[in-house]
Amino acid sequence: MTVNLAIALLHYPVYNKHREVVTTALTNLDLHDIARSARTFGLERFYIVTPSPDQRDLAARITGHWQEGWGAGYNPDRKEALDIVRVCNNLKNAVNDFQAGFANPVKTVITGATDRPNSIAVSQLRTELEQNADPYLLLLGTGWGLTDDCFEAADHILQPIAGTGSYNHLSVRSAAAIMLDRLRGTR
Ligand SMILES: C[S@@+](CC[C@H](N)C(=O)[O-])C[C@H]1O[C@@H](n2cnc3c(N)ncnc32)[C@H](O)[C@@H]1O
Repeated sequence: MTVNLAIALLHYPVYNKHREVVTTALTNLDLHDIARSARTFGLERFYIVTPSPDQRDLAARITGHWQEGWGAGYNPDRKEALDIVRVCNNLKNAVNDFQAGFANPVKTVITGATDRPNSIAVSQLRTELEQNADPYLLLLGTGWGLTDDCFEAADHILQPIAGTGSYNHLSVRSAAAIMLDRLRGTR
């Protein structure tokens, strides 16, 4: 692997509306749209992380359909995007897979819509990505967002994307596209 940024979409451990820790269901749109954004900005890996065997099967079936089945010939652009998808049962396995391409340890960068202390600016992360060889795995949440334990365990917290007012609750697909443009886009 040559590109030192990858994305992981976590379906566990995330909060639900009642702040209980749950596993969320895979969203077909997230898989397709984040894969396309990630591929557009040159990423070589997009990890779908879920502990549910059924949900992993579903993710594999969706990607397989567009990679090998009838869909591969019908829509080669989609195939190219989905080629970077890997399905994992937990974050540790996603980190290990990404790690295999690099000598320096993978650093996790967690994202969320809420301001937290000690978070880093997207411009700082962009500079680090450009100037050092460390691999970074960007963690995106589902449901009502990644748990506090995840934020404590991550190597970096990324400052939230801000809008023009106090509202900034983006879909994960939109958040991923905005972050990738800011981290790797050209002007
Ligand atoms: C909590 S999930 C919401 C899932 C929602 N059901 C959907 O349609 O995507 C949204 C995820 O997108 C990212 N996100 C959303 N808004 C954000 C913001 N303003 N700044 C940074 N990340 C954000 C975070 O990774 C967050 O965990």
